[in-house]
Parts: sequence; C-alpha cells; structure tokens
Amino acid sequence: MEVLVSIVIPTFNEASNVPKLFAEISESLRNLSYEVVIVDDNSPDGTWLEAAKEMIRRGMNGIVVRRIGMRGLATAVLDGIAMSRGAYAVVMDADLQHPPSYIPELVNALARSSCDIAIASRYTPGGGVAGWSFVRKVISKTATLVAKLLLPEARRVSDPMSGFFAVRRDLVEVSRDKLNPIGYKILLEIISRASPRCIVEVPYIFRPRASGKSKLGLKQIVYFILHVLTLSGWRPFKFALVGLAGTAVNLAVLTLLSISIPLLTSTLFVLGSAIAIEVSTLFNFSLHERWTFRDRRSGSTLMRLLRFHLSVAPAIATQYLVANALKYLIGANPILAQFIGIVLGFTVNYLLSELKVWRGRKLRVLRASPQQR
Ligand code: GDD
Ligand code: MN
Repeated sequence: MEVLVSIVIPTFNEASNVPKLFAEISESLRNLSYEVVIVDDNSPDGTWLEAAKEMIRRGMNGIVVRRIGMRGLATAVLDGIAMSRGAYAVVMDADLQHPPSYIPELVNALARSSCDIAIASRYTPGGGVAGWSFVRKVISKTATLVAKLLLPEARRVSDPMSGFFAVRRDLVEVSRDKLNPIGYKILLEIISRASPRCIVEVPYIFRPRASGKSKLGLKQIVYFILHVLTLSGWRPFKFALVGLAGTAVNLAVLTLLSISIPLLTSTLFVLGSAIAIEVSTLFNFSLHERWTFRDRRSGSTLMRLLRFHLSVAPAIATQYLVANALKYLIGANPILAQFIGIVLGFTVNYLLSELKVWRGRKLRVLRASPQQR
C-alpha cells in the first residue's frame, strides 16, 4: 500500500500515553493513508513493546524502532524519518500535547501551499498554550527570542521551537548529511540547515501532558544553548574577536599617523582620529564578510558596507553614553565604565549587523488560510 503520511513519534517512557495517542491518531486520520513510526530509546517502562502490541491490536500500519545505547529526541526523529515511506513526515510528541486532530490540517497546508515545511505554531494568531505556568511561559519565550536573535531562519517564523510539524520527506533526505542535531530542537536544525524555500504556519493549542512527565530539564537547556551556538557558527564570538582585532588596528593606525604625520595627532586630531576609525571599520567589515558572516552574503556588497557604517554610529553612541552615565551618575571607576561601554557598544554593533546588515537568504513564510484548513 502506498503511504502518504508517516507520523514520526520519538518516545521515552511514554507507555501510559500510547493507547490514547494511537486512538486519537486513528480517529483523526480516517481518510488518510498513513503509517506510524515510533522511535523509542529503549525506555525502561517498555514503551517500545507497548507500542508494538497496540499497533498489532489495532491493525495499525507502522513500525517501532528500538534504539539501544542512544538518547536524544532530535536524532530519534531523524532516524524515524530515515525509516519512513510517506511523501510527508509529520513529527509530533507522544504525550498528546500535540493534538493529533491537527495532522490533516498540517498535511493539507503543506500539500496545497507546495511549501517544504508546515509548522504547528503556538505563537501565531489562533495558537496558544493551555495550562502553562508563568515561569514555563517565560522560559519558552526567552528560548524563542535567543533562537531568533542568532538564527535568521528562526527569525522568519513565529514558533521555531515547535516540536510539531510536517515536512516533505525528500527535503530531509537530500540534506541528511548536513543535519547533526543535539538535544530537542529538530525543527530548528532543519530550518537552519536544510534550506527550505517556503514554510507555512498553522496555529494550534499546545495541550497539557496527558500522563507521565516531561524530560525537559537543565541538561536540555544546556544542549539548547550549544545547539543554537553551533547552528550560528559561534557568530557572536567571531564578531567579538574581529572587534578586538579592529580596536588594535584602530590604535595602530593612529600610532603610525603620529609618527609619519604628527599634525594628524595634534592640531588635526579630528581628522587623524576619523581616519583611524574608518580604517578599522573597513578592516572589521572585510573580516565579517570573509569570516563572521561568510554564509550570509546575499545582495549588494556596497549596500552591506553602507549599512555596516550606519551600524557603527549607534554603537559608538551607546559606548559613549553608557560610559558617561556610569561615571557621572553612579561614580563608577572610569576604566570599568569605559569597558562596560565598549561591551554594550559591541552588542549594539553585533545586533545591527545580525539583523540589518547580513540578513541572509530569502525564505517565504505563509499562514495557512482558513480554506487551507
Ligand atoms: N526517543 C526519544 N529519546 N524520545 C524522547 C527523548 C529521548 O531522549 N526525550 C524525550 N523524548 C520524547 C518524549 O517521550 C515525548 O514524546 C517527546 O519526545 C517530547 O518530550 P517532552 O519531555 O514531553 O518535551 P516537552 O513537552 O517538554 O517539549 C516538547 O514540546 C515543545 C513545544 O512544542 C518538545 O517537543 C519540544 O521540542 C517543543 O519545543
Ligand atoms: Mn511534552
């Protein structure tokens, strides 16, 4: 039988959720040809066995992959997709927080839009979360913000952290070699590395867990930070290194000027200082082009050069204002005040470079229209 949709579900200690999950899936997908691919990391509660038994009992089309000696949601999803047959893979959790009733909507949105990925989004109008504490909401929003600041593709969609999405299986297949996720955020990996051209978003309500408990702990938060930094190519650190080198260039130019044309560091310091600043700005720009943002050079170089110059002014203003405020308002040590000013100035320079100068390639993002649902 030809399979249209493979529902890929990573599990770890979810035996108690399996019967209800399968019941809801078969209820929601009566008119679709589908298979269920469970990828279980050898759960101590025997989820793999429970899932296999339940599949047979229901005459459900599907497989159970039992991975031994391996752990990780994201890699489990990739292994599941590798064993799938459907044209589309729908990725979802086993704990019923991702309601199976949205699966047809996701698949339809993907089929009708001819996009590469359909994301079930909590943060688009009509979406939301049910039963989350204030703290959990803040953690989720903060993580989303971090991803959006560092990753241009994440910036374009409302819920890059979603664990519920549908993807054309061939998109993952052709870029499989580039995918090497750690931790939970498989969608983040796919949108950053598999170069989707178009993404469609479907709002949904994230439900409370049916039973069992979340595996999202401190370890996953550390993995998340490492994952985002890896995907960003450690850009903030590269940016800071270039900035440090640029400062040295700035001072070196000024020193050279003081030796060769002393006038430029005495009466005409206004000019000498400007020359040193401009040389270091050009130096920083060319290093960012060749190294920090090498993969993000789209459009005209001249426009980027212009925008980079525009980003330097607010950075210098920030440095100047912060240093003076710290010095005069709270009487901070001037060296410390200047240092904090430099750090914040660099931050402004980095954010503007990231958001406005090296903006990255085009990605179309659509909202599923009500007809598509
Ligand atoms: N195979 C495997 N291996 N599965 C795992 C592992 C693992 O190491 N860790 C967790 N899972 C499975 C769980 O059994 C569950 O089916 C699913 O992955 C999600 O795990 P939860 O522990 O319930 O995660 P959560 O609810 O805190 O977060 C989920 O929802 C968020 C919002 O959509 C995840 O999907 C997040 O990625 C997502 O951002
Ligand atoms: Mn969950």
